Amino acid sequence: MSPEPSSSDYIHLLVERIKAATQHCTRADGSLQFESDTMRRDLIVAAEQLLMAARSPEETLFAIAQQPAQNAALRCLIALGILDKLPLNGDSCSLDDLAEAVGAEKTLLGRILRACTSTSLLNETSELHYAHNALSRALLPPANRALVTLMYDYIGRGVFALPEFLRERKWQDPGSYADCSFMLGSHTTLPMWEFYEEDAVCGKTFDLGMQSEMVPALSSGKQGGNFPFGRELSLPNTTGESQEGDQPTIVDLGGGRGQGLQDIRKNHPELSAARFVLMDLSAHVYYLRRCLHNWDDGACKTILSNVANAMDATRSRLLVTDMVVDNEGAARGAAWEDLGMMAIGGIERTERHWRDLLDQNGFRVHKIWRDDSGGHATIEARLK
Ligand SMILES: C[S@@+](CC[C@H](N)C(=O)[O-])C[C@H]1O[C@@H](n2cnc3c(N)ncnc32)[C@H](O)[C@@H]1O
Repeated sequence: MSPEPSSSDYIHLLVERIKAATQHCTRADGSLQFESDTMRRDLIVAAEQLLMAARSPEETLFAIAQQPAQNAALRCLIALGILDKLPLNGDSCSLDDLAEAVGAEKTLLGRILRACTSTSLLNETSELHYAHNALSRALLPPANRALVTLMYDYIGRGVFALPEFLRERKWQDPGSYADCSFMLGSHTTLPMWEFYEEDAVCGKTFDLGMQSEMVPALSSGKQGGNFPFGRELSLPNTTGESQEGDQPTIVDLGGGRGQGLQDIRKNHPELSAARFVLMDLSAHVYYLRRCLHNWDDGACKTILSNVANAMDATRSRLLVTDMVVDNEGAARGAAWEDLGMMAIGGIERTERHWRDLLDQNGFRVHKIWRDDSGGHATIEARLK
């Protein structure tokens, strides 16, 4: 029978587990080096269980309920710009100097910094003197600060509004993309990605935050969420050498500013010849050259509606470069090409056909860019 979680035997057991794990991972020079992630995780779990066992259930609950205040202290620390005012060499700075440097009222700042030091976000070196520590240093990369900001200012507001949002739905419905607690918490009618596009600060914070390495499962060394890109995708031929045609193309859909692709490139030099394609909301142009003529109207509907879903209503343009056959008096070349397309289930469309197809799938034709050289033209369309 295992001991009660509040008994001294249980605490003793946890202490032994922690001691054994620490001894196992201690190198000759006294540094700590974990053999595996599992080992490190075990130590963390045991330490958390120890904390829980040492506290009464009421204390644990109170600590959980106090977490919003910790988060607010962290967010204030970032917003005040304190991290940039503290000496990087570990020297301390007085409250007076910090208050002057960031333009905050001294007593107010002192209370915020007290909340930070008591949470180990900063060191208090002596009364009203502060210095960087490991946690505050980890906040120096702008991407890490942006991630914390994003979690507090945007995701956090949605999380806080969840109980009210779900209660309004009588706990029957978790909501949807276009009706979610983020909208309630942020007092907006816009869902996440529309808000992100509309609000420049949110967009910038989000993009930068997504480049942070603070997310454990994606941090450096995890090589793209654990998938062994190099091993799975570098395809040697029978002679052991890879050929040009073997090189993979990796399309990162919703890839932000390219951080995921950069990670793959960095961690897998063996994929240096691969093609990396980044696709995200910021695409101004969706270009389909010589593609739609391969497909019948039904298939084009699927393609076009997927593209339409990804497009920004005001900024994005669809460019379709294809044969645009004259409605009347079609050129011979175009008519013959059309039979070629017919043979594979496609079609060369007349201008009228293109206009109908685009209209039926949510687009308006803005302009058809033609020249005299033949039937190919570029149809520029926007969302209706
Ligand atoms: C949570 S971020 C993930 C970014 C990146 N994949 C990463 O792991 O760092 C989601 C991304 O999806 C993008 N996104 C949202 N809707 C999109 C759409 N309709 N088409 C393309 N990208 C979209 C956003 O702009 C954002 O960059």
